[in-house]
Amino acid sequence: MQFEINKPLKDFNTFHIDAHAEKFICVDNEKSLIEVLTFAKQSNTSTHFIGGGSNILLTKNIEGITILNQIKGIHIIEENEEFVLVNFSSGENWHECVLWAVSKNYGGVENLSLIPGTIGASPIQNIGAYGVELKDVFHSLEAINLKSFEKKIFTLEECNFGYRDSIFKQHEKGNWFILNVRIKLTKNPVCNIHYGNIKDELLKMKVETPCIQDVSKAVINIRSSKLPNPDEIGNAGSFFKNPIVSLSHFEALKSMYPAIPHFIATNGVKIPAAWLIEKNNWKGFKKGDFGVHKNQALVLVNYNNAKGNDILELSSHIITSVQQTFNITLEREVNIW
Ligand code: EPU
Repeated sequence: MQFEINKPLKDFNTFHIDAHAEKFICVDNEKSLIEVLTFAKQSNTSTHFIGGGSNILLTKNIEGITILNQIKGIHIIEENEEFVLVNFSSGENWHECVLWAVSKNYGGVENLSLIPGTIGASPIQNIGAYGVELKDVFHSLEAINLKSFEKKIFTLEECNFGYRDSIFKQHEKGNWFILNVRIKLTKNPVCNIHYGNIKDELLKMKVETPCIQDVSKAVINIRSSKLPNPDEIGNAGSFFKNPIVSLSHFEALKSMYPAIPHFIATNGVKIPAAWLIEKNNWKGFKKGDFGVHKNQALVLVNYNNAKGNDILELSSHIITSVQQTFNITLEREVNIW
């Protein structure tokens, strides 16, 4: 077991924040993971896990051991005429797995094309886009307990998925390392093109009867046009969650802002945080090397050499101003390290 000491993490987080890991190691199989975890336990050292680094904001150097998950593998566990149950190892890149599924004509994840990050991170916040969430295709996952090293299968119910939420962000936070995610895909795909501008994009592509390959391409086109490519401008996708407000709160807002965009949710009305932020004139804001993206107000960006704390502070200013204008408290979606 060879640790790299004081390792720069700039290339391992999509915000491209220049922070360092005290000790850093890549693991590409379960045995070496357990070796590292055992060492950490015996030496009483803290551990931090990085997958795609696409949902973290580094505000300081990371003490202890930072483990980069490179455990790879895709295999079919079960299949019949209708479905295929696929085991994806947690270190696989999410989008590459989507492309794999789409190339085999296995439907269910095409709307989740181009989401950055790894398979292992996907259940933690129940990733979602364009009308589909991971929970819609999720079968189960296998995780290893970070204290006892015992393995456990979590079923769909046990994960307690919600909007950008799961048990791994609630009371099981920090207790498990996800090893495998099992996803159920259909061999008879039906395209889901009702969200947002997928239909318009398909029209632009001159596709009349779309297949999942077309839907995947349409989502890739929409995302690429709106969301900055992290390889060019550091960012972690949506920085905040879309808030859900009560019906009475929404009605009060609607009387003041008749055009307020909204979606009816089970527990209230969901309002796009991007709209609230844009209404407060943050869209396109730039100060030094950090700011708010010009095409999507929900995305905070590092133009070059911003510090994590600059972006954290900007997010606090945004929260305060949205709170003052709309009496809504935005919650960060990105994890602050
Ligand atoms: N809007 C604005 N200003 C903007 C952008 C959007 O007012 O700058 C308003 C518009 O009314 C638009 C509405 O917000 O119709 C929704 O915008 P969009 O479809 O771009 O989606 P979003 O709600 O901002 C969510 C997810 C994204 C996901 C898209 C598409 C969250 C926190 N974000 O964003 O997820 O790609 O829907 O499904 O739920 C991510 O989690 O990192 C992410 C990018």
